[in-house]
Amino acid sequence: MRGDSRILPSEITPEPVYLARRSFLAGLAGAGLAAASTPALAQVVNVTLVPRLEFRRNARYSTAEKANSFAEVAGYNNFYEFGTGKEDPARNAHTLRPRPWSVVVDGECEKPGRLDLEDLLKPHPLEERIYRLRCVEAWSMVIPWIGLPLGDLVRRFQPTSRAKYVEFTTLLDPKQMPGQRYGVLDWPYVEGLRMDEATHPLAILAVGLYGRVLPNQNGAPLRLVVPWKYGFKSIKSIVRIRFTERMPRTSWPLSAPREYGFYANVNPAVDHPRWSQKSERRIGAGSLFSRQPTQPFNGYAEEVAELYRGMDLARNF
Ligand code: MTE
Repeated sequence: MRGDSRILPSEITPEPVYLARRSFLAGLAGAGLAAASTPALAQVVNVTLVPRLEFRRNARYSTAEKANSFAEVAGYNNFYEFGTGKEDPARNAHTLRPRPWSVVVDGECEKPGRLDLEDLLKPHPLEERIYRLRCVEAWSMVIPWIGLPLGDLVRRFQPTSRAKYVEFTTLLDPKQMPGQRYGVLDWPYVEGLRMDEATHPLAILAVGLYGRVLPNQNGAPLRLVVPWKYGFKSIKSIVRIRFTERMPRTSWPLSAPREYGFYANVNPAVDHPRWSQKSERRIGAGSLFSRQPTQPFNGYAEEVAELYRGMDLARNF
């Protein structure tokens, strides 16, 4: 399969995920929740019902490319805690209760603590940034996020000199996140960044999109967005941020180490073992078969390539 650029995203589901998805769907069907007639975007309903946020636009860090529609951004998702199908999160994520919400910040820092979401965000004006998101499954979207630079938040907790990485953890609660009853991944979902990546001005914590509060299926109330890396680095519904000396053991490399690395920088020169990363399908644009070339670091090379100078990116994939 390597190098075949015509492969469809629907065909590249990792086999364990495919099998788990079947049992997940069977479980839902048993619970009477997976009615085939459920409209795909049932939970997206009416965008005007979602509360607005105040923000200022950041043009410097925004692409001029046409953004995907709200329905695409909130209707075609990866959020395995709510199922492995692209439409499952929009259908199922209503069980998540994003408020009240608190985040534990701990590990190698001078000012650890548990903060309510509102207190975590208080001193920071929100920004809108239109970013490309390139999923490891070779599709992409353009999304107008609202959030704040992760670096501002990291500095507030005063990491010590031993802090080399930042680890992020998603909520673990199978009642709110029914997909966690199935062994698709080793829950909770964990991600990580090197400290220089986490404090790079492009890395943000998002709390909204399209001028409004983040829909549950997009990772409410707080998710990471790292636009030069494959989408799986952009962890959703974060409850813990921990500063560490050692490289965090993150969900995807733990589940399939040959297929997913810690760095996960978008790189058209390094294929996934089972499919090419040279091109991508932009959701909602053209036909199912029209593709565009993938750019190194997802088009953000000018800003971030220097973080990896001297590193072998084929080995550190
Ligand atoms: N975070 C958690 N907790 N669980 C997930 O399954 N999927 C990742 C990432 N964050 C995922 C996650 C993947 S593979 C992608 S491509 C992006 O979320 C998708 O973000 P979006 O649905 O908002 O576009």
